[in-house]
Amino acid sequence: MNQDEIKRLLGIKAADYIDPWLQVDAYIGVGTGSTANHFIDALAGVQHRFAGAVASSVASADRLKSHGIRVVELNEVSSLAVYVDGADEINPAFSMIKGGGAALTREKIVASAADQFVCIADSSKWVEQLGAFPLPIEVIPMARSLVARKLVGLGGTPVLRENTRTDNGNEILDVHDLNITDPAHLESQINQIAGVVTNGLFARRGADVLLMDVDGEVRIQKRRGSA
Ligand code: A5P
Repeated sequence: MNQDEIKRLLGIKAADYIDPWLQVDAYIGVGTGSTANHFIDALAGVQHRFAGAVASSVASADRLKSHGIRVVELNEVSSLAVYVDGADEINPAFSMIKGGGAALTREKIVASAADQFVCIADSSKWVEQLGAFPLPIEVIPMARSLVARKLVGLGGTPVLRENTRTDNGNEILDVHDLNITDPAHLESQINQIAGVVTNGLFARRGADVLLMDVDGEVRIQKRRGSA
């Protein structure tokens, strides 16, 4: 299987995995990226079994709608049982780096509204320590240089992502060379910098469940300590 076929399998298995949460009045949180796209395509087959979806990006909302799946704003729902999304890196504690697709802010918001975060990631995303993938940070454009200097102070090398505006109208700094030994601490530390909207560390609220391929099969793992 090539990588896209693995991502497709992960999307299908994720739709199977969330089956117990599908109810006619239930909304599903949906992530962004090529793996999440396969999940959206798999959801199309069961769309009559749930009320609709909250999307983490305009791109995912458009794809959901193209399948006829109802998309609602987060403000319209009182709860989300489950959120399904990919990752750029995930470690054994199920902390992640996300934001390769520039959707990190809405992803973090929708994920934080959900009871369960189900990560679908091919095995190339598995790392012992986060940080080989440059950490995406969404910044208010007027604060870009200020934030970049503070990130240099944290040991990082920020690079402005060219020709990119987020769905919220902001810019992305991709930060190389960070030594991420304590992801939750660094997540909080970066959040304290004025001008940062969101950083792509998902450690304070990591994944609860991971679907990842092992030798061509999808293995389902729960985070240690999760129910
Ligand atoms: C989007 O902003 C990201 O957080 C994605 O979830 C992440 O980049 C994974 O994308 P792929 O599924 O395309 O690898």
